[in-house]
This record gives sequence, structure tokens and C-alpha cells, in this order.
Amino acid sequence: MTQASVLFVCLGNICRSPLAEAALRAEAEQAGLDIVVDSAGTGDWHVGDAPDPRAQAVARRHGIDISGYRGRQAKPADFHRFTHIFALDSDNLANLRRIRPADGTASLSLLMDLVPGREGSGVTDPYYGNDAGFDITWDDVTRAARAIVARLQT
Ligand code: 4NP
Repeated sequence: MTQASVLFVCLGNICRSPLAEAALRAEAEQAGLDIVVDSAGTGDWHVGDAPDPRAQAVARRHGIDISGYRGRQAKPADFHRFTHIFALDSDNLANLRRIRPADGTASLSLLMDLVPGREGSGVTDPYYGNDAGFDITWDDVTRAARAIVARLQT
């Protein structure tokens, strides 16, 4: 079986998708699952930027250092590089469908579809809110990361 590789995509790649990347790295490591994990944004405003300080802070509160992550933009080639691409909300899912090459091999879906009771919903963008929003983001992406690990283990 080919090794699973997972790409999380939000808008800026400085809040939600880096936290999803961090949560899945942590959950996979804990489960002894060897997978490739990355994140990207559909927008290009934060290419090369470190995650938002509030995202870094919530990750640190959970024992994870994401200060070395850097923003990048999702690109058509990602549909050949990854086995799974998860959009953090439906706007980003629509934008990913637009850049998906016809022969792209990655599966593309909405992240919270993996979480029972949250199907069809997005991870709320915490960028314009307060610190509490980042705790909600962390909870959401951690639940989704656990669901991904459970699926990939079977
Ligand atoms: P993210 O949050 O998509 O979760 O990384 C955002 C970060 C930056 C912007 C929008 C959303 N922005 O417009 O710059």
C-alpha cells in the first residue's frame, strides 16, 4: 500500500490548516502511524509567513511547537503529491475543486465530514476573533485528526 499523505487546506495557511497539520502529526505519532502531513492555503497573502501568533500559542499550550511552519499556497500538483486533501471549510473546498487537475489522484473532501454530527460543516475561521476561537479550532481539528488516524489504521 502506498504511504498515506495528507494535506490540509484553509484560506491563509496561518490559522486553521497549520493547527490541523500539528494535531494530525501528534495523533499519528501517538498511534505509531507513519504518514506524511502538510498544510496549505487557497490564498497567497501569507506565503512564507509563520503561523498566526495565536495559533502558535494554542499549539504550544498542547505541547507542540509550530513556529517553524511556513505558509504556502495550494497548487494543482498537490493533487498528485497527496493521497488525501481535506478542506477546512466549504469555500476552500470549492476553490480546491476549481484547481483540481482532471487526472488528479488525491481524494478531496470536507474535513469535518469525518466527525460524527459535524458532517457538512466547516472549521470556523478564528482569524478575526479572539483567543477562545483558537481553542475551538484546536478542538475541531483534533477530533478530525483522531478520525483520520482511526481510518488510516484500519
Ligand atoms: P486561516 O485564517 O485560513 O485559518 O489561515 C485566515 C488567515 C488570514 C486571512 C484569512 C483567514 N487573511 O485574510 O489574511
